[in-house]
Amino acid sequence: MTAPLLLASNRGPVSFEEDGLGGLAPRRGGGGLVSAVAGASAVGDAHWVCAALSEADRAALRQGRVPAGVQMLDIDPVTFDRAYNRVANATLWFVAHLLFDTATAPVFTSRTQREWSAYRAYGEAFTDALAAAAAPGAAVLVQDYHLALTPRQLRARRPDLRIGHFSHTPWAPPEYFCLLPDDVAREVLLGMLGADAVGFHSARWADAFARCCVEVLGAAWTQGALTFEGRTTRLGVHPLGIDAVELRTRAAEPDVQGRLPLLRELVGDRQLLLRIDRTELSKNIVRGIEAYRELLRERPQWRRRVVHLVLAYPSRHDLPEYRSYTGEVQRIAREVNEEFAEDGWLPLHLEVRDDYPRSLAAYELADVLLVNPLRDGMNLVAKEGPVLSEKGVSLVLSRQAGAADELGDDAHLVNPYDVAQTAQALHEALSTPADVRLARCSRLADAARAMPPAQWLQAQLSALPAAPAGS
Ligand code: G6P
Repeated sequence: MTAPLLLASNRGPVSFEEDGLGGLAPRRGGGGLVSAVAGASAVGDAHWVCAALSEADRAALRQGRVPAGVQMLDIDPVTFDRAYNRVANATLWFVAHLLFDTATAPVFTSRTQREWSAYRAYGEAFTDALAAAAAPGAAVLVQDYHLALTPRQLRARRPDLRIGHFSHTPWAPPEYFCLLPDDVAREVLLGMLGADAVGFHSARWADAFARCCVEVLGAAWTQGALTFEGRTTRLGVHPLGIDAVELRTRAAEPDVQGRLPLLRELVGDRQLLLRIDRTELSKNIVRGIEAYRELLRERPQWRRRVVHLVLAYPSRHDLPEYRSYTGEVQRIAREVNEEFAEDGWLPLHLEVRDDYPRSLAAYELADVLLVNPLRDGMNLVAKEGPVLSEKGVSLVLSRQAGAADELGDDAHLVNPYDVAQTAQALHEALSTPADVRLARCSRLADAARAMPPAQWLQAQLSALPAAPAGS
């Protein structure tokens, strides 16, 4: 019992891969959560509890390769699969992003209860580790929908701890949240209310969560706090931003700069329309490409004058929905090139191989950045782009991204379902004069760095009750 600050998240700061030579290579964990938490300087002294995500992680654990400060839990693979793939990603994630095609899904059966028990057990594994490692009165910051139950479980075990929970996703309104089986819906909300403070990236998601607590549990919601059964949980909005200095320093490194010549060659003297996403169902990549096709069809003046670079990196390939979505992205990308390619002009380049330095290099060159998620907790691509842009990038942004709260004034906001409107916004973005782009981009970059990760983490800590004297 030594750690004064603990973090808990499913994915940790590092995961391992087979290197093809019989060894294991460490990789930085992907996604918004890890970028956020790992970017905060206080994390250096924290004890970070995460799950082993693969056989390679388990092997690294056995070989003692996991770095100091990180505690990787070896959860039984069947329990992990049910908790992570079935409950967290195929159910809670879908609810948060309103992703079900409700004519046919979800369907809850007796299997659901088995999966839900696994999710509980997975939460307990984290609770055990945190309860054992935390110093008296320690602060514990639990992250995301994978660990909704842990705050309450942990409070029962260690009432001395100061517990926060932060959601990196959106939250569903009560009428959608109540698709969940009644007992599951209650347990999720009760689990999170076990924290002293719950946080979200946007007031829209915090309000939706509060409305769920009022309608499902009958909690009282007043002045940024929820009270239920005599306990009060603070409700916070902490919109994560970018550490601009760190990002620019990283982008100046040789591996990033070395990617520029090839990209410049690919773009030539045309405008670069860029998107960068993990291939998650919520990112709306297919409608984004559809909008580009509409632009080229309806406004032929842009043919040969634009190159669309789609960096769509693999994500969650254990879920069949994700594998088939990636197939859809590849199909529509092919169709666009078949329809419009001409000698010397390939309208669309799709890259599915993850290459972080290339992404940073592409930000530098982009003329227009398309970020059109159906729904997104924050979306850091919308913030990284303006910070790294050299010439002043125009941002086309979904109003359903948390980032729209802060960036909306200087972005071309779109309804992500409306392909025609998105095509129109692409046209306007591509047509914006350079001086206007530059001025807007500089305001976007200012907004993007308003709450860098260190400050964001500090905001979560400040929302907790004061530390006991002498700790
Ligand atoms: C994105 C979301 C986070 C989530 C993460 C998990 O980054 O914004 O809310 O925690 O995905 O991704 P994973 O690859 O670990 O399933």
